[in-house]
Amino acid sequence: MSIDKQATNPRVIEALENLPELPSMPTVVGQALDLLDDPKIEVKDLAKVISMDMSMTTQILKLVNSAYYGFPSQITSINKAMALLGFDKVKSLILSVAVKPMMMSYSGKALWHHSLRCAVGCQHISKSLNYGDSDEAFIMGLLHDIGKTVMQIYDKNAYPEVEKLVAIGADRLETERTFYGFTHTEMGRALVDTWKLPLIIGITAKHHHNPLESEETVSSSIVYVADRITQEELKFPIFEPEIIDSLDYEIPNPEALREEIFGLSEPIVEALS
Ligand SMILES: [Fe+2]
Ligand SMILES: [Fe+2]
Repeated sequence: MSIDKQATNPRVIEALENLPELPSMPTVVGQALDLLDDPKIEVKDLAKVISMDMSMTTQILKLVNSAYYGFPSQITSINKAMALLGFDKVKSLILSVAVKPMMMSYSGKALWHHSLRCAVGCQHISKSLNYGDSDEAFIMGLLHDIGKTVMQIYDKNAYPEVEKLVAIGADRLETERTFYGFTHTEMGRALVDTWKLPLIIGITAKHHHNPLESEETVSSSIVYVADRITQEELKFPIFEPEIIDSLDYEIPNPEALREEIFGLSEPIVEALS
């Protein structure tokens, strides 16, 4: 999916065109994602592309060997990792490793850790609802707030002002609109689309604060729920009643789910810190 200029807030396009540096994917990631779109893909071709990037290779192996994936013995080659994990998991690993430097350097550790926890949360909820592709759900969570990072690249002085107002109760999306003319959800959608990721990733980035307005209500609500419960500090009410009451599934104990997701994500947060 590339960016739909007609349907996008013109201020988002203007910002994307005027970024001091465009957050482009490393070449190897672009090549790997293109290969992953090819139905005739073979493990050895993808392994060859990844292996060209030493740091990507090292980090992928570190992640694969983390307790999150639970393999009984040490995996020492990209070939082996791919054969064991399958292409869909490899895709979310590649994206995690690729996004980390950008998010860490412009937004900091707190947003990065929140994004990883939200990714694990989305994967976990999608699995337990038996809804959608849980590896894709991981990517939805990973990238849901990527628009914030772009805003910080575009104008790093305005974002702390937004945060200050939000901390004293202002509505985040409205405040972002006042300072930037667009929201992190609109920007997230546009960036993800420029990266040509699946449509669902962009849709959920756009609607993770208002899932009921999404054309993909269930997926957007999964990101909404995971986002809310993986905030660094839990805010109350955890969910907006009008949203949670409209979902056709229940989250009976959000605090227990938060604990569970924090626990599950620990190895990934550690491997990618
Ligand atoms: Fe958000
Ligand atoms: Fe978030």
